[in-house]
Amino acid sequence: MAGKLAVIGAGLMGSGIAQVSAQAGWDVVLRDVTDAALTRGTDGIRASYEKFVAKGRMEAADAEAALGRITTTTDLDAVADADIVVEAVFEKIEIKHEIFRSLDKIVKDGAVLASNTSALPITKIAAVTERPEAVVGVHFFSPVPMMQLVELVRGHKTGDGTLAAARSFAESVGKTCIVVNRDVAGFVTTRLISALVVEAAKLHESGVATAEDIDLACKLGFGHAMGPLATADLTGVDILVNATSNIYAETQDEKFAPPELMRRMVDAGDLGRKSGQGFYTY
Ligand SMILES: NC(=O)c1ccc[n+]([C@@H]2O[C@H](COP(=O)([O-])OP(=O)(O)OC[C@H]3O[C@@H](n4cnc5c(N)ncnc54)[C@H](O)[C@@H]3O)[C@@H](O)[C@H]2O)c1
Repeated sequence: MAGKLAVIGAGLMGSGIAQVSAQAGWDVVLRDVTDAALTRGTDGIRASYEKFVAKGRMEAADAEAALGRITTTTDLDAVADADIVVEAVFEKIEIKHEIFRSLDKIVKDGAVLASNTSALPITKIAAVTERPEAVVGVHFFSPVPMMQLVELVRGHKTGDGTLAAARSFAESVGKTCIVVNRDVAGFVTTRLISALVVEAAKLHESGVATAEDIDLACKLGFGHAMGPLATADLTGVDILVNATSNIYAETQDEKFAPPELMRRMVDAGDLGRKSGQGFYTY
């Protein structure tokens, strides 16, 4: 399966989605608001293809052909004839609403309108369109070329055909899907990692075990590739405090309330790998 794909937003995720899709044979229109953002996006894609070629995991000619299948634009009208549109702009509901309102007016009937949101309810995004049955979540993970999972998220009115088309698309670019049948806060993945990180941070905060031992317990006891506190450092302690706070706000379930230690780490700028200090020192 391949056809015409539009990706809205040429940041980390949008450019990654464009990259794997073009590689799989999709004709991709990549749209951002500035030429500078588009250049950053396509430079990143080119550099990533070059790495795959250097490692012998992709032919140079295939990389060239894939790059040739990506066109860039700042004009939203250029996505009108896409079979599937994947929105990957900032995680702000107002910006997503503005885009989905416009997409609803210009994109052809029968197209799938997908959002790569990490946590915003699909139902809320779809509500500004006249075709909520065509709206679905396709949650890719970072870095897109390396991570196998796509979380498909059903909004309250997502149609079965839309979900099936989203699955075909994700599988066509080499991913494996799980289906989230109701768009609960945090979907499945963010909900699970939030519960684990919150409990791990509480155990660490109360002196029950060191960060190293908590992570070792998950690695050696459960076969996790990475412990929860190392994962928090990699993702960003601030990102996880935000995610868990949002889930807590919606569910009022104490197990998602971010512990004081994590909130103070954010206040102090100890955000994990990106700041050089989190649960570990880098
Ligand atoms: N970063 C991650 O690890 C990750 C993982 C899964 C999902 N997500 C989700 O994917 C989405 C994008 O995240 P990201 O990390 O790629 O963000 P990013 O900041 O790297 O990129 C966002 C891009 O959107 C562009 N943009 C803003 N408004 C726009 C508009 N109106 N039209 C077109 N482009 C516009 C920006 O110029 C920027 O290039 C968010 O919803 C995020 O929650 C992120």
